[in-house]
Amino acid sequence: MRRTLLAILCLLQPATTSAQTTGDPDAGERGFTRCRACHSVTAADGTVIVRGGATGPNLFGIIGRPAGTGEGYRYSQAFRDLAASGFVWSEADLASFVADPPTFLQQRLGDPAATTGMGFRLRSGGEDIAAWLALQGTSRSVSQRTKDQTP
Ligand code: HEC
Repeated sequence: MRRTLLAILCLLQPATTSAQTTGDPDAGERGFTRCRACHSVTAADGTVIVRGGATGPNLFGIIGRPAGTGEGYRYSQAFRDLAASGFVWSEADLASFVADPPTFLQQRLGDPAATTGMGFRLRSGGEDIAAWLALQGTSRSVSQRTKDQTP
Protein backbone atom coordinates (compact mmCIF):
# COMPACT_ATOMS: atom_id res chain seq x y z
CA MET A 1 0.00 0.00 0.00
CA ARG A 2 2.72 2.36 1.05
CA ARG A 3 4.69 1.62 -2.07
CA THR A 4 1.70 2.31 -4.29
CA LEU A 5 1.16 5.62 -2.57
CA LEU A 6 4.77 6.56 -3.11
CA ALA A 7 4.54 5.64 -6.75
CA ILE A 8 1.47 7.79 -7.15
CA LEU A 9 3.15 10.69 -5.39
CA CYS A 10 6.09 10.38 -7.73
CA LEU A 11 3.79 10.47 -10.71
CA LEU A 12 2.11 13.58 -9.36
CA GLN A 13 5.42 15.39 -8.98
CA PRO A 14 5.17 18.32 -11.38
CA ALA A 15 7.80 18.90 -14.01
CA THR A 16 9.74 21.73 -12.41
CA THR A 17 11.13 23.50 -15.45
CA SER A 18 9.51 23.96 -18.81
CA ALA A 19 12.42 25.16 -20.89
CA GLN A 20 10.75 27.69 -23.14
CA THR A 21 13.83 29.80 -23.55
CA THR A 22 17.52 29.15 -23.16
CA GLY A 23 18.13 32.17 -20.94
CA ASP A 24 17.51 32.55 -17.22
CA PRO A 25 15.25 35.56 -16.60
CA ASP A 26 16.33 35.95 -12.95
CA ALA A 27 19.96 36.22 -13.95
CA GLY A 28 18.83 38.53 -16.75
CA GLU A 29 17.10 40.88 -14.34
CA ARG A 30 20.35 41.23 -12.42
CA GLY A 31 22.28 41.53 -15.68
CA PHE A 32 20.11 44.41 -16.83
CA THR A 33 22.04 46.65 -14.42
CA ARG A 34 24.60 46.68 -17.23
CA CYS A 35 22.04 48.24 -19.57
CA ARG A 36 20.19 50.69 -17.38
CA ALA A 37 22.78 53.44 -17.68
CA CYS A 38 21.35 53.93 -21.17
CA HIS A 39 18.00 52.10 -21.27
CA SER A 40 14.84 52.24 -19.21
CA VAL A 41 12.01 49.72 -19.29
CA THR A 42 8.79 51.71 -19.20
CA ALA A 43 5.39 50.26 -20.07
CA ALA A 44 3.09 51.94 -22.57
CA ASP A 45 0.93 53.26 -19.72
CA GLY A 46 3.97 54.99 -18.22
CA THR A 47 4.65 52.42 -15.47
CA VAL A 48 8.39 52.42 -14.87
CA ILE A 49 9.65 48.83 -14.54
CA VAL A 50 13.31 49.80 -14.53
CA ARG A 51 14.36 53.40 -14.27
CA GLY A 52 17.25 54.04 -16.61
CA GLY A 53 19.05 56.49 -18.84
CA ALA A 54 17.71 57.91 -22.08
CA THR A 55 20.85 57.54 -24.17
CA GLY A 56 19.22 54.46 -25.69
CA PRO A 57 15.56 53.68 -26.44
CA ASN A 58 13.05 52.29 -23.94
CA LEU A 59 13.29 48.48 -24.08
CA PHE A 60 9.78 47.62 -22.89
CA GLY A 61 8.31 44.91 -25.10
CA ILE A 62 11.49 44.77 -27.19
CA ILE A 63 11.17 41.03 -27.89
CA GLY A 64 8.71 40.82 -30.75
CA ARG A 65 9.01 44.54 -31.45
CA PRO A 66 10.23 45.76 -34.83
CA ALA A 67 13.73 47.23 -34.53
CA GLY A 68 14.15 50.98 -34.37
CA THR A 69 10.60 51.76 -33.32
CA GLY A 70 11.00 52.92 -29.70
CA GLU A 71 8.67 55.90 -29.34
CA GLY A 72 10.28 59.30 -29.30
CA TYR A 73 13.78 57.95 -29.83
CA ARG A 74 16.09 59.22 -32.57
CA TYR A 75 17.94 56.22 -34.00
CA SER A 76 21.14 56.09 -36.03
CA GLN A 77 20.98 55.59 -39.79
CA ALA A 78 21.89 51.91 -39.39
CA PHE A 79 18.90 51.39 -37.12
CA ARG A 80 16.62 53.24 -39.50
CA ASP A 81 17.84 50.92 -42.26
CA LEU A 82 17.25 47.91 -40.03
CA ALA A 83 13.73 49.16 -39.26
CA ALA A 84 13.08 49.64 -42.99
CA SER A 85 14.05 46.00 -43.58
CA GLY A 86 11.18 44.94 -41.30
CA PHE A 87 13.48 43.26 -38.79
CA VAL A 88 11.76 42.15 -35.55
CA TRP A 89 13.70 41.34 -32.35
CA SER A 90 13.85 37.75 -31.15
CA GLU A 91 15.63 36.64 -27.99
CA ALA A 92 18.43 34.99 -29.96
CA ASP A 93 19.01 38.07 -32.12
CA LEU A 94 19.01 40.39 -29.13
CA ALA A 95 21.62 38.21 -27.43
CA SER A 96 23.92 38.30 -30.43
CA PHE A 97 23.32 42.03 -30.97
CA VAL A 98 24.43 43.01 -27.45
CA ALA A 99 27.51 40.79 -27.76
CA ASP A 100 28.74 42.86 -30.70
CA PRO A 101 26.37 45.60 -31.97
CA PRO A 102 28.35 46.90 -34.98
CA THR A 103 29.11 43.44 -36.36
CA PHE A 104 25.50 42.39 -35.89
CA LEU A 105 24.26 45.40 -37.87
CA GLN A 106 26.89 45.05 -40.57
CA GLN A 107 25.90 41.45 -41.16
CA ARG A 108 22.17 42.12 -41.07
CA LEU A 109 22.39 45.08 -43.41
CA GLY A 110 25.13 43.66 -45.61
CA ASP A 111 26.89 46.99 -45.07
CA PRO A 112 30.46 46.77 -43.70
CA ALA A 113 30.38 50.50 -42.92
CA ALA A 114 27.29 50.39 -40.69
CA THR A 115 27.84 51.96 -37.28
CA THR A 116 25.60 52.26 -34.25
CA GLY A 117 25.20 54.64 -31.36
CA MET A 118 25.28 51.70 -28.97
CA GLY A 119 28.93 51.73 -28.00
CA PHE A 120 28.68 48.87 -25.56
CA ARG A 121 29.39 45.13 -25.69
CA LEU A 122 28.23 42.48 -23.30
CA ARG A 123 30.71 39.64 -23.01
CA SER A 124 28.25 37.08 -21.70
CA GLY A 125 24.73 36.76 -20.33
CA GLY A 126 22.87 38.27 -23.27
CA GLU A 127 20.54 35.24 -23.44
CA ASP A 128 19.54 35.78 -19.81
CA ILE A 129 18.81 39.47 -20.34
CA ALA A 130 16.83 38.61 -23.49
CA ALA A 131 14.79 36.06 -21.52
CA TRP A 132 14.02 38.64 -18.85
CA LEU A 133 13.16 41.32 -21.41
CA ALA A 134 10.80 38.86 -23.10
CA LEU A 135 8.72 38.94 -19.91
CA GLN A 136 8.54 42.77 -19.91
CA GLY A 137 5.73 43.18 -22.40
CA THR A 138 5.32 39.89 -24.21
CA SER A 139 5.52 39.48 -27.96
CA ARG A 140 1.97 38.18 -27.75
CA SER A 141 0.70 41.49 -26.39
CA VAL A 142 2.69 43.32 -29.04
CA SER A 143 1.25 41.31 -31.91
CA GLN A 144 -2.16 41.69 -30.29
CA ARG A 145 -1.68 45.44 -30.31
CA THR A 146 -0.60 45.37 -33.94
CA LYS A 147 -3.64 43.29 -34.74
CA ASP A 148 -5.91 45.74 -32.95
CA GLN A 149 -4.49 48.56 -35.01
CA THR A 150 -5.13 46.82 -38.31
CA PRO A 151 -8.43 48.06 -39.67
C1 HEC B 1 26.38 53.23 -23.34
C2 HEC B 1 24.95 53.21 -23.55
C3 HEC B 1 24.29 51.87 -23.79
C4 HEC B 1 24.38 50.72 -23.03
C5 HEC B 1 25.18 50.49 -21.75
C6 HEC B 1 23.49 49.76 -23.65
N1 HEC B 1 22.90 50.31 -24.76
FE1 HEC B 1 21.54 49.41 -25.98
N2 HEC B 1 21.48 51.05 -27.16
C7 HEC B 1 22.15 52.23 -26.92
C8 HEC B 1 21.88 53.18 -27.98
C9 HEC B 1 22.44 54.59 -28.08
C10 HEC B 1 21.00 52.52 -28.87
C11 HEC B 1 20.45 53.07 -30.20
C12 HEC B 1 21.47 52.71 -31.25
C13 HEC B 1 21.36 53.41 -32.58
O1 HEC B 1 20.43 54.20 -32.82
O2 HEC B 1 22.25 53.11 -33.40
C14 HEC B 1 20.77 51.19 -28.33
C15 HEC B 1 19.93 50.23 -28.92
C16 HEC B 1 19.62 49.03 -28.35
C17 HEC B 1 18.67 48.09 -28.89
C18 HEC B 1 17.82 48.27 -30.13
C19 HEC B 1 16.48 48.86 -29.70
C20 HEC B 1 15.45 49.02 -30.78
O3 HEC B 1 14.50 49.78 -30.54
O4 HEC B 1 15.54 48.40 -31.85
C21 HEC B 1 18.64 47.02 -28.05
C22 HEC B 1 17.83 45.77 -28.20
C23 HEC B 1 19.58 47.30 -26.98
N3 HEC B 1 20.16 48.52 -27.18
C24 HEC B 1 19.80 46.45 -25.93
C25 HEC B 1 20.72 46.70 -24.90
C26 HEC B 1 20.97 45.79 -23.80
C27 HEC B 1 20.22 44.49 -23.57
C28 HEC B 1 21.95 46.35 -23.04
C29 HEC B 1 22.63 45.76 -21.80
C30 HEC B 1 23.27 44.51 -21.99
C31 HEC B 1 22.31 47.61 -23.67
N4 HEC B 1 21.54 47.79 -24.77
C32 HEC B 1 23.28 48.47 -23.17
C33 HEC B 1 22.98 52.50 -25.85
C34 HEC B 1 23.36 51.59 -24.87
